[in-house]
Amino acid sequence: MPGTGRLTSDRHLLGIEPLTREEILRILGRARELRSQDGAVERSLAGRSVVTLFYEASTRTRASFELAAQKLGASIVSLASSSSSVSKGESVWDTGRTLAAMEPTVIVCRHKSAGAPHLLASAVESVSDTKVINAGDGAHEHPTQALLDALTLLDRLDTLEGRTIAIIGDIAHSRVARSNLFLLKKLGATVLLGGPRSLVPDQLTTMGGVIVRDVDTIIEVADAVMMLRVQFERLVGPPPFPSLSDYTRTYGLTVDRANRMKPAAFVMHPGPMNRGIEIDPEVADGPTSVVAHQVRNGIAARMAVLERATGMGPWAGRRAQ
Ligand code: CP
Repeated sequence: MPGTGRLTSDRHLLGIEPLTREEILRILGRARELRSQDGAVERSLAGRSVVTLFYEASTRTRASFELAAQKLGASIVSLASSSSSVSKGESVWDTGRTLAAMEPTVIVCRHKSAGAPHLLASAVESVSDTKVINAGDGAHEHPTQALLDALTLLDRLDTLEGRTIAIIGDIAHSRVARSNLFLLKKLGATVLLGGPRSLVPDQLTTMGGVIVRDVDTIIEVADAVMMLRVQFERLVGPPPFPSLSDYTRTYGLTVDRANRMKPAAFVMHPGPMNRGIEIDPEVADGPTSVVAHQVRNGIAARMAVLERATGMGPWAGRRAQ
């Protein structure tokens, strides 16, 4: 495949894995500042343009990137694969070169294949100075979800050093889990992973998580519990568990389980939720849930990431890391 090697710009955001702890903290700090400015936010992307290029469905990520770009004063072009020349078979490489020739400042890309945003960034770099932000690639990474999750965790916990964060569910197919694992470890948390072997294979320990098969044990020690949906669209082969009701009984965050969390512990979910499967509706909408807060934080986190890509805010005159 052409040009998938080393990128020359450090302002693309393709994953959490390559970011330093300091850079993550800089993004989170800037997101907090932008959030506190609310309606008075400086239009630091005025005269710039952002293309959202989504090859996979999205509600939260796409809407919040577009709102974030709008708040910063950028103009926005939205492209979905169904209504673009992707539907005529145009490749990621050619799409990247074509869009880059129009010199947008940033392209935000979601794709069902791991590595597609990296390929897009290579294509773009062969034409212009446009930067690429990964909005979720297959089961690989979803960096801005991990950043908004960290912002939400730190709103409640002040620090992640010495904290225990649980991630429960379909971790094998989850880009959210991978990006969160990278980020939470860099910020000093212990990450407990729960779920069946088919969805939480033993090999995941190589990423620094601690697998605990008994979800009831995890629930009682975690400072925050992040539930993940089963990604039925990515499953191949035999069903990963005997039945949905077996899954809910063994791994779901039921009202009964949620009642056994530590007193100050809280519940997160990146969405979309499968209510009644991995999480009871009463828990999803209950007082320990911070799901709506996560969604709100998505705008501030993505504003900061857009500024980083364009070299604005704290990145003016400074290299990204
Ligand atoms: N969490 C998340 O990525 O949601 P969307 O698929 O709706 O963007």
